[in-house]
Amino acid sequence: MIEIEKMTSLHLGRVNTLSVESDQLQYVATIDDILASANAQIRPHVIIANDEVVGFFLIDTAYADHNDCVESNSLGLRSFFIDHKHQGNGYAKQTLQILPTYLMSNFPKQTNVYLTVNCKNKLAQKSYLNAGFYDTGNLYHGGKSGPQHIMCMDLNLV
Ligand SMILES: CC(C)(COP(=O)(O)OP(=O)(O)OC[C@H]1O[C@@H](n2cnc3c(N)ncnc32)[C@H](O)[C@@H]1OP(=O)(O)O)[C@@H](O)C(=O)NCCC(=O)NCCS
Repeated sequence: MIEIEKMTSLHLGRVNTLSVESDQLQYVATIDDILASANAQIRPHVIIANDEVVGFFLIDTAYADHNDCVESNSLGLRSFFIDHKHQGNGYAKQTLQILPTYLMSNFPKQTNVYLTVNCKNKLAQKSYLNAGFYDTGNLYHGGKSGPQHIMCMDLNLV
C-alpha cells in the first residue's frame, strides 16, 4: 500500500539516498538541490511503500504567486519522482491516484493543482494524464531541458 506523508527530519536519512537514473536528471534535480529549494511554502513530501521511502515530491503552496495565468487558489506539484530502484512497480500510478484526496484533506482551500512536465518525458506525461491531469495547451519555457507542458487537475471535479 502506498502512503503520502509530509517529510520530517525522521525521513532525512532515507530521502538523502533517493535518486533517479542519470538520463532522468534532465527532468528532476538531484535530491540535494530539491531539498535546498524547500521552505515553509514549498513543502517536501515522501512516498512510502511497505514502510520504505520510495519517492518524493514538493507541494508549492505559493505556485500562483510566481506563475502568471494561474488561479490564486492553486497548488504546484514539483520534483515528483520515484527512486530509480523502485521504478516500474506502479508506485507513481498509485501515488497519483491518492494525491487528489490527500491534497483536498490537507489544503482544503485550494481547488487546482498544476505541474509542468518536459515535452520529451512521455512516461511522466502518460502517468499524469492517466491520473486525471489535463494538458492546458500552454508551454513553460523556463526549464533547463527544453519546453514543458503545463498540466492541471481541478480538485473539485475529482
Ligand atoms: C515518471 C516516474 C515518476 C514513473 O514512476 P514509476 O513508479 O516507475 O511509474 P509506474 O510504475 O507507476 O508506471 C506508470 C506507467 O508507466 C509505465 N512504465 C513504467 N516504467 C516504464 C518503462 N521503463 N517503460 C515503459 N513504460 C513504463 C507503466 O506500465 C505504467 O503504465 P500504465 O499506467 O499504462 O500501467 C519515474 O519514471 C520517475 O521518477 N522518473 C524520473 C523523474 C521524472 O521524470 N519525474 C517527472 C517530473 S515532471
